[in-house]
Amino acid sequence: MTLSAVEVIVKKRDRGELTKSEIDWLISEYTQGSVTDEQMSSLAMAILLNGMSRSEINHLTQAMIDSGERMDFSNLSRPTTDKHSTGGVGDKITLPLAPLVASYGVAVPQLSGRGLGHTGGTLDKLEAIPGWQASLSNEQIFSQLEKVGAVICAAGSGLAPADKKLYALRDVTGTVEAIPLIASSIMSKKIAEGTASLVLDVKVGSGAFMKDMESASQLAETLVSIGKDSGVKTSAFLTDMSTPLGRKIGNALEVEESVEVLSGGGPEDVVELTVQIAAEMLRLSGVDADPRENLSNGKAMDKWREMISAQGGDPEASMAKAKHVEQIHADSDGSLNLDALGVGMASWRLGAGREKQGDSVQSAAGVVLHKTQGEKVSSGDLLAELHTDTEEKIQGAKQDMAKATKIESESSRMSIILKELR
Ligand code: URA
Repeated sequence: MTLSAVEVIVKKRDRGELTKSEIDWLISEYTQGSVTDEQMSSLAMAILLNGMSRSEINHLTQAMIDSGERMDFSNLSRPTTDKHSTGGVGDKITLPLAPLVASYGVAVPQLSGRGLGHTGGTLDKLEAIPGWQASLSNEQIFSQLEKVGAVICAAGSGLAPADKKLYALRDVTGTVEAIPLIASSIMSKKIAEGTASLVLDVKVGSGAFMKDMESASQLAETLVSIGKDSGVKTSAFLTDMSTPLGRKIGNALEVEESVEVLSGGGPEDVVELTVQIAAEMLRLSGVDADPRENLSNGKAMDKWREMISAQGGDPEASMAKAKHVEQIHADSDGSLNLDALGVGMASWRLGAGREKQGDSVQSAAGVVLHKTQGEKVSSGDLLAELHTDTEEKIQGAKQDMAKATKIESESSRMSIILKELR
């Protein structure tokens, strides 16, 4: 069918509802290059301003799935489940979560990406483990899921290529924040990945994409409705990202903290979120279990070792240590308020994150928090350590930390889970 891109853009500009055939045509022509970037960015802006109906969002998601390959795990001997986080500071949950869920016999195909900006990427974290390989063929993913039950690897370029192209365009045209575009982007990749069920962790707060409950709830509802309409059992948690998750932020540092959780310890917020998401993934897969058990009896840790070794990593290897460590001390007495975004910026500046796609990251860089949100501090107490291989980066990171740290008469810690949608 031949349509006109201009007519489709004008229809959305004038608040019309696009049909399935208009959306299919547009996404297919855009992927092949006959609808131009100028036209697509104009449509993206019209969508940001005027929104999309539930059926338009479903058609858009499906069109982006159809632009590439779709993985099929229906022949696996175990059910599949996955989770997606909208990203935050210190969010290492995928690392302990995948082996924990797999330790109950449910397969976790976690196709991940690298980080951009102040939130870290799961692959960057795992690449801090000596020998670990992110790239696997579809056959290797299938065989590891069958043998080990958990895979965390790079999503191949064949999954939802239309999304890849559109996301890069949104990034440079001020159209990232449109909920229909965010939701279809996330869900097209997760549905193409072929998981039977999905738990979404939608972060809310300064360190997150969504800064307030209202927009985060709207995004979560849209994500859950796309999943359900596509036959994927989907739940969502809205979780706090006003302050960092856990005490370690940075690639190797987050692997270390994940191993603490898998050893039965670790910070309570990281443990709580890991356990709650794991319990929901297991529930959606028909397994009734208390995930805390396999954290304390070592079964999740055994699965972690298998998962890392299967991808060439050495789970016993010591992690890289930074060449420079700078301490930050409290300059007064009081109660600590710690802002997620500022700590994320400090970690990024120290070398844990990248400025643009393709930049390299430092494995050992990041921030270790000795005091966290809501804790009492006295003047002179050690608050945090800044880790980096590049000494010149310390000054800027100290300024980020100074802005992020407030010692006040009162502070409290919100519960990590703010709302659940099933
Ligand atoms: N993550 C995605 O994959 N897509 C978006 O649009 C935003 C976050």
